[in-house]
Amino acid sequence: MEPYLTLTSINKNFNGFYALKDINFDIKPGEVHCIAGQNGCGKSTLIKIISGVHQPDSGGVIEIENTKFSSLTPIKSVQKGIQVIYQDLSLFPNLTVAENIMINIYHNTKLRNSKDMEIRAKKVLDSMDSEISVNTLVSELTVSKCQLIAIARAIAENAKLIIMDEPTASLTHNEVKHLLSNVKKLKQKGIAIIFVSHKLDEVMEISDRFTILKDGEYIGTYNSEDMTTQRLGELMTGQNISFTPIATPFTDEIVLECKNLSKLNQFENINLTLHRGEVLAVTGLLGSGRTELCLSIFGLNPADSGDIYLEGKQVKFKSNRDAIEAGIGYVSEDRMGTGLVMEQPISDNILSSQFKKFQPALGLFQQSKALKLVDQLIKQLKIKVGSPYHAVSTLSGGNAQRVSIAKWLAIKPKVLILDSPTVGVDIANKSGIYNVIKELSSMGVSLIVVTDEIEEAYNNSHSITVISNGKIKQKIQTKDTSPEYLSEVVNA
Ligand SMILES: Nc1ncnc2c1ncn2[C@@H]1O[C@H](COP(=O)(O)OP(=O)(O)OP(=O)(O)O)[C@@H](O)[C@H]1O
Ligand SMILES: [Mg+2]
Repeated sequence: MEPYLTLTSINKNFNGFYALKDINFDIKPGEVHCIAGQNGCGKSTLIKIISGVHQPDSGGVIEIENTKFSSLTPIKSVQKGIQVIYQDLSLFPNLTVAENIMINIYHNTKLRNSKDMEIRAKKVLDSMDSEISVNTLVSELTVSKCQLIAIARAIAENAKLIIMDEPTASLTHNEVKHLLSNVKKLKQKGIAIIFVSHKLDEVMEISDRFTILKDGEYIGTYNSEDMTTQRLGELMTGQNISFTPIATPFTDEIVLECKNLSKLNQFENINLTLHRGEVLAVTGLLGSGRTELCLSIFGLNPADSGDIYLEGKQVKFKSNRDAIEAGIGYVSEDRMGTGLVMEQPISDNILSSQFKKFQPALGLFQQSKALKLVDQLIKQLKIKVGSPYHAVSTLSGGNAQRVSIAKWLAIKPKVLILDSPTVGVDIANKSGIYNVIKELSSMGVSLIVVTDEIEEAYNNSHSITVISNGKIKQKIQTKDTSPEYLSEVVNA
């Protein structure tokens, strides 16, 4: 079959730095083509060239259905049938499902016929076997349903190629399953799909072909028959990466205890015990109350009832300041939003959890002490930085994630909570973060790791608590279980 889109010799430099070097790529109707590679290898840049957001350097050719272009604009790209599902989904929460799906089609029509709009929107949703009502306000839908609406909008606009750049980052197991089955339906309609995700199992499940990039260079294109998860990881990183469970034991000294913690509509009767050096993985479906529970331990979301004990003493945190003072750190799920100040220097970010201690007013001595600490943490966590004074925004995803961990290590925590620490992080950087978890545990830090990924929970814990609808569903010792069993418990 003729490709729908072919890219030849695509280069893109940003101020002399080559994000893409001589890239070739093609995709056929009804094909799922995965663009894979480590953080910063150029995946999103390539996608932006296809969607007309970036223009390639001169010399490259973009061919769509036998028409050649030297570059595209967003309008031209859409006219040619290319649609991007952005991570923020670009929906209007205050409009209905039908209005969102039909918004661009009805854009210039002064007189909107709402009945007609609803009928056409429903037809698209029916074709995706979705039962979402077209009259519902988008603000009332879950992330996963919103994503489906964004896909439906692309179909309504006659998409021939739909691009999904890390579409599963904020979805859980079941939602991911839905998305993947929707991708299969798009395939059946003859729509081509470019799919980017750092969750290699996902891309293995649905991709027909893989194009692999490394440091902006083209490594190759491979058929799914010739690909395994292991090989994909190897081609992306040049290393043989595999994950293993934690081998070191923990002590029997109890550090943190939660007794009967409850909060209306969030979590109920939560009992947890965390020993010194123990890593507890908390998993379960998104919206199961995991993050709310962690925030409550961190003093940001007080429970309605129940007690928390730290090293045997009851604590009642009024704010996260109290929790930090007591030795609890929290690496937030949303590191770009609340965890780090991206435009500020790496050093300031690392010190931000304890500025009180190193205030410049305290003089030069304190400053050099602070810098020493920054240096030590950068080394300990193996963070790749040009200089600690560079902005965090100059770092790759995996290194930025380490800065957010360094920030909390600076307070020498007794308990460190890592909420979804590897979302959007490539396999090599994941492995680095897993090593940090293991190292911290052997140093005697107790950790709570919140994660959606079964393998991640299994390979980074001594014990696992599965939460469902705010309640503990099961507590398991990691050494007594398997990823297969865990998956059954989570999805049951
Ligand atoms: N607008 C820009 N200006 C300067 N440099 C940029 C710009 N956009 C991307 N880059 C650089 O180009 C490289 C490729 O970035 P890109 O976002 O394409 O990576 P990616 O493969 O999507 O990574 P990730 O998996 O982390 O999303 C990176 O080094 C990035 O810093
Ligand atoms: Mg990207």
